[in-house]
Amino acid sequence: MELISLFPTWFEPMVGSGWVVGFIATFHVLASHTSVGAALLFAYLSWRAYKEDNNDYLDFVKKFGLFLLVFTYVAGSLTGVGIWYSTTVASPNGIGALIHSFVWKWATEWVFFVIEVVGIYMIVYLVGKVDKKTHMKISVIFGMASLATMVIIVGILSFMMVPGKEAWFEQGGYLLGFYGDNTFIQMAMRMAFMMTMTAVVGGIVVATIKDAAFKKEMARKLGWLGIIATLIGAALFQLYLHTVPSYALLVMENRLPDYFYPSIMIVLAITLAYFIMTMIQPRTLISGVAGFMAIVILVAGLWPEETARESMRKPWVAGQYVYSNQVIGRDVPGMDIQSQLPIIEKVGILQAHPFTPEHLREVNDSNRIQAGEFITMTYCSNCHSVSDSGIRPLHRYFPEGVTQEVMERYIRGAIVPGTIAYMPKMPMLESEIQAISAYLVMNNDGGLAANQAAIAKEVAQREAGKLAQQPAQPYPKGTTGLVVSMKSSAEENK
Ligand code: HEC
Repeated sequence: MELISLFPTWFEPMVGSGWVVGFIATFHVLASHTSVGAALLFAYLSWRAYKEDNNDYLDFVKKFGLFLLVFTYVAGSLTGVGIWYSTTVASPNGIGALIHSFVWKWATEWVFFVIEVVGIYMIVYLVGKVDKKTHMKISVIFGMASLATMVIIVGILSFMMVPGKEAWFEQGGYLLGFYGDNTFIQMAMRMAFMMTMTAVVGGIVVATIKDAAFKKEMARKLGWLGIIATLIGAALFQLYLHTVPSYALLVMENRLPDYFYPSIMIVLAITLAYFIMTMIQPRTLISGVAGFMAIVILVAGLWPEETARESMRKPWVAGQYVYSNQVIGRDVPGMDIQSQLPIIEKVGILQAHPFTPEHLREVNDSNRIQAGEFITMTYCSNCHSVSDSGIRPLHRYFPEGVTQEVMERYIRGAIVPGTIAYMPKMPMLESEIQAISAYLVMNNDGGLAANQAAIAKEVAQREAGKLAQQPAQPYPKGTTGLVVSMKSSAEENK
């Protein structure tokens, strides 16, 4: 038997697995970027404290550090683990691709991360217990270790979009995969936005400062930091767009919702206005407002950014060779990796998938809808939900009352050969095309419930052994087996 490396699909019925990963990742970016940005700010403030022999700065570092320890470090660590868990089940081959190329990079990152975690404790609890010069040194080491974690992870993130150099496909090797224009510009852009986040979250700490003069000074400092970082970040975003593959831009232009750009602009304007307000009127900076603004700015700014990055990668999830639906769609001689498409073309997806239930390996009248469901889950559900909610619900893309015949033509003409740039090539045997079409038509008509009812019927029939003992019947041309009997669309087809 010819099998490919597919795993059971993680089906999340409410929002889809993609969004679960998205929620966790957005939260993680928020926590991790804020910590790294703050680490650099701490190094600077500790240096000022040492140079000017000023205790106020250290008090601020201690307060902000404690806040980070409780919130971002706990949240960051939990969501970090959450990303591993959720991506491993949502995208096993995608994660596999990253691990095969970057396992030592990740090990290195974790070394820095341990330094970071120990460092934040030292920074917070050694204020006043060690001299200012030692504290400054600790802060600088902490800042550098934090930055190192970010630099490494950005290399891996940018590989997800596109390997550093084209030569990587032929030659492999992690340097070629890691370093490219996209890596460096993304690094710079993230550093800028990291400082924006630090300034926004820092506002929560500034709000608690009692001494009016010092509060004003810190509000000014963070305000400037925020304004400059935001403007630089926005400019770098424009540059960044030049380093992504051209079809990614196509997806962005055509496929992001209309409100995407305006909403980014509004978030940008609100962010700048907020910083300016806190600089001019530090009194307005009270904890409640600062906390609220932090959530608004960060979530409203990050969610679209992470969604865009995710959409732009389509149809790939990693390295431009692992499709979002986990099929490996391209040869990578440098890594000894072969495309799985030829095998699927030869034996069909049901035979090639190691986890296809035995009774679905061949499509017949007693399993058609179920086989169609299995194919939809395998091929489509990473990017499309089959229910009403969640990510790109499939039924929205088909006209109401679509017939089996039209559906088959679409699957055969557009989906199988992969003619739509942002979707993978998805080879299917003729019997599989009929099965997925039958499932999708039913999904379009009656939603998930209709499919589940039909599947229950198939299972009951099979169990009663009525159809199971009959040889699989040839599929009559122009009709649709179960679907026809249920919605008698034979007339409609005429
Ligand atoms: C790599 C992710 C991915 C996979 C896998 C995928 N799609 Fe899509 N599909 C997309 C994206 C992205 C769009 C554009 C959606 C939008 O603009 O809202 C899309 C759009 C569509 C459309 C609208 C047609 C068009 O011209 O834009 C249909 C129909 C569709 N998908 C069906 C399917 C079916 C059926 C499957 C499984 C056999 C599937 N897709 C698998 C990502 C995917």
